[in-house]
Amino acid sequence: MKYKIPKDFLWGGAVAAHQLEGGWQADGKGISIADVMTAGANGVPRQITAGVLSDKFYPNHEAIDFYHHYKEDIKLFAEMGFKSFRTSIAWTRIFPQGDEELPNEAGLKFYDNLFAECHKYGIEPVITLAHFEIPYHLVKEYGGWRDRRVIDFFIRFATTVFKRYRHQVKYWMTFNEINNQTDYQEQFLMATDSGLVLEPNDPDSEALMYQAAHYELVASALAVKIGHQINPEFKIGCMINVSPLYPATCNPQDTFQALKAMQRRYWFADVHALGSYPRHMEAFFAEKGLRSDITAEDRIVLAEGTVDYIGFSYYNSMTVAAQTTNPEFHFVGPEAVQKNPYLQASDWGWPIDPLGLRYSLNWLADHYHKPLMIVENGLGAKDELTADDQIHDQYRIAYLKAHIQAMKDAIEKDGVPVIGYTPWGCIDLVSAGTGQMSKRYGFIYVDRDDQGKGSNRRLKKDSFYWYQKVIKTNGSEL
Ligand code: BG6
Repeated sequence: MKYKIPKDFLWGGAVAAHQLEGGWQADGKGISIADVMTAGANGVPRQITAGVLSDKFYPNHEAIDFYHHYKEDIKLFAEMGFKSFRTSIAWTRIFPQGDEELPNEAGLKFYDNLFAECHKYGIEPVITLAHFEIPYHLVKEYGGWRDRRVIDFFIRFATTVFKRYRHQVKYWMTFNEINNQTDYQEQFLMATDSGLVLEPNDPDSEALMYQAAHYELVASALAVKIGHQINPEFKIGCMINVSPLYPATCNPQDTFQALKAMQRRYWFADVHALGSYPRHMEAFFAEKGLRSDITAEDRIVLAEGTVDYIGFSYYNSMTVAAQTTNPEFHFVGPEAVQKNPYLQASDWGWPIDPLGLRYSLNWLADHYHKPLMIVENGLGAKDELTADDQIHDQYRIAYLKAHIQAMKDAIEKDGVPVIGYTPWGCIDLVSAGTGQMSKRYGFIYVDRDDQGKGSNRRLKKDSFYWYQKVIKTNGSEL
C-alpha cells in the first residue's frame, strides 16, 4: 500500500493569542510580557520596557482585535476548509497576575465561546499553553522562570484550562519554541521564552537559561501527566523551533560543528520526548560547571511525562562553520552562522529551503519515533493591496507549495508520520520578532499598518483560494 497524506489530516492555520487578540485589558486580562514589547522593525529589535509606559507604542495591545472579530475570522477559516486551528490561551486572561488562587471567569468564557465557534464548523482547536505570554507580574516579582514556584503557577493554569476545556480541546502543546533560548545572548528570546529580562552580556545568562528551561521542562512533563489524568484522550505535544543546521563545507570541522549545534539546539526535544537529559548535555554541564537545581524527583517527573507528539515550527535551515575561537565546538550563536550560497532569502533575510523541511521531518522521525505536527511554516512578506482590493501573493503561494510538496515527499517517500499542517499567521497578525504588521504571513489580509492605523477590514488574498483547493483535494492539487 502506498503511503499518503491521511484522510483525517489536520490541515489548518496557526496564530498565538498575543499576536492577534488585542483586548489587552478586556474583561480583567492582566499584563503579559508581550504587552511590554514595543514595535521594532526589520533589523531593529523590539524593546522590553519596565511596565507599560505612556509614551510608547505596543502593537500587541490591539493587534488585529480578534477578541472582537473571532466569529468573522473563524467563518473565513471554515470557508478555506480548515480542519484545525492552532492558537494559545493567553495565561493573563485566566490568571491576570499569574499567582492568584482563582481564575478569571470572564477570560475562561472567552475561550468557551471561541472553541464553540470552531466546533460549529468542525474545526479542531490545537492549543498552546505558553506562547511568549508569561504574566508580567511573574516576570517582575519572581524573575520569570528562574523561580521554581512558577512551575506551580503554570500547573494551576494548565489544570484549570485542561478541566474547563476537556471536551472542547483534544490537541495541546506546552511551551512554544522552548529552544529559542539556546541563543541565551539574545535578550528578546530569553524574555519571550522564559520571562528573563536581562542586561546585555549578563554573565549569568547561560546558567539562568538552563535553569529556566529545566523548570519549564518539569512543568511540561507535569502538565502532560495531569492532562492525561483529566482526559486520557488528550494528545499533548511539545513545540520546538526546528532550523536544521548544515555544515558550511564538508570539512570535518564544519560537519562536527553542525552536529554539536544540532545537539545544543534540540536536546529540549530529547527531554520532552525521551524523558531524560541526553548524555551529551550532562557531559556539557559537567565540563562547564553548570549546576542547575535538578532534583531526583524532577528526573522521575521528566520520565513519566513524555509527550504524545512533536509539534514544531519550520521556516528555514541554518548553516554553520567551525570557529577557531571555539575549539570545543560549543554552539555559541551568530558568529558560527554562515550565509548559505545555495538558498534565496526572504525580505527579512530568512533562507528559503523547502528540502530543509523534508530533512527536518526525517530527522525528527528518526530521533523520536512519534507523530509529528508541523504547527508553523510560512513566508513573512510585504503585500500590496490593489485599487480593487486584491492581494496577488504569488510569492507566498510559491513558498507554501514547495514546502507542502516537501512534506508530501516526506510522508509518501520517507514514511514520516505527519498528522497536521498549520501554517503560521493564517490571518495577518503582529510579528513576534519585529512587532510589525507589514511582515505578513496570512491568507487573509488585515487592513492595519505598523503604527496601528487602519480599518481592521479582512480581505481574501489569492493564497486564500489556493489553500482552499489544497485542503479540498487533501494536498493532491498544489
Ligand atoms: C515563531 C513564533 O518564532 O515564528 C511565532 O512561534 C512567530 O510567534 C513566528 O510569529 C514568525 O516570526 P516573526 O518574527 O516573523 O513573527
